[in-house]
Amino acid sequence: MFCDKDSALESPNESGERLLAEEEGALWTRNEASSTLRYNGFAAGLLQTTALLLFFLIGALFGLQWRGDMDSLCGAHTSQYSTFSREIGTKYNVKAFNGSLLKENTFRLNAGPEVDAAWESLGINYRSVRIPSEDAERSGLAADQVKISTKYGGGFPANVEGLHHLHCLNLLRQSLFYNYDYYHAKGEGPFVNDDYIVRHHVSHCLDIIRQQLMCTVDTGVLGQIWIYPDSPEPYVDFNTRHRCKNFEDVRGWAEKNQLPLDPPSDFLQPPVEGDRIYNEMP
Ligand SMILES: *[C@@H]1O[C@H](CO)[C@@H](O)[C@H](O)[C@H]1NC(C)=O
Repeated sequence: MFCDKDSALESPNESGERLLAEEEGALWTRNEASSTLRYNGFAAGLLQTTALLLFFLIGALFGLQWRGDMDSLCGAHTSQYSTFSREIGTKYNVKAFNGSLLKENTFRLNAGPEVDAAWESLGINYRSVRIPSEDAERSGLAADQVKISTKYGGGFPANVEGLHHLHCLNLLRQSLFYNYDYYHAKGEGPFVNDDYIVRHHVSHCLDIIRQQLMCTVDTGVLGQIWIYPDSPEPYVDFNTRHRCKNFEDVRGWAEKNQLPLDPPSDFLQPPVEGDRIYNEMP
């Protein structure tokens, strides 16, 4: 049997005792050794401790210096490079989300000018920005993509992805069953198109947001709180804290760098021999 008392249990005990005895023996020998040996041991210990302390201090100093640069390090590691990264850069700040179920903020109001203005203020309808030629490759733009004529400063017209995501979320909001009639009747923005196109625009937006949320999946958790003191019930705490990127800096940069409102007809450089031209919308 495995649990046989005599063999399995007693033999480790015996060897354990033996080990202890050996250690005691070693201690005794050390204690009886000459004072020089003890002094040497003490000096070596002191040296070791000092070295460790020094390493720790150097590490701590490096750590403190790195902390300041951690934001750009993380931003550069997790986001596509763009001119924004070079000119402004990513910073992170802790924000409390508002996960209220019944208390509505302006972004949640029923269709109308007030809620539209709130969404508009996020920069969802900004015109393209210019990505200078020297940033194009690092920003993921191929040399044969659409370019601005050198006459007008050159570079590539482009839109900030995050603002497109918000544009998309706004279109989903406008297409909610209780908002749809209002925006359909107004016939502005995406609703100038046929219903068939609007439908595809909406599902394009839904799917872009799905992919973005999956790409940056939040691995934080929602805890629970007690509500109703008279007969307490558990309720999910949606008001969680998040480390957020500097959205306002992104919006401000995109606003400032918009291309002209009424560009001249030769603003874009026409494609040249060898540039890829697709047969249909990809
Ligand atoms: C969330 O927003 C609503 C509406 O602005 C406000 O009444 C509520 O206090 C906010 N909740 C939190 C936890 O910030």
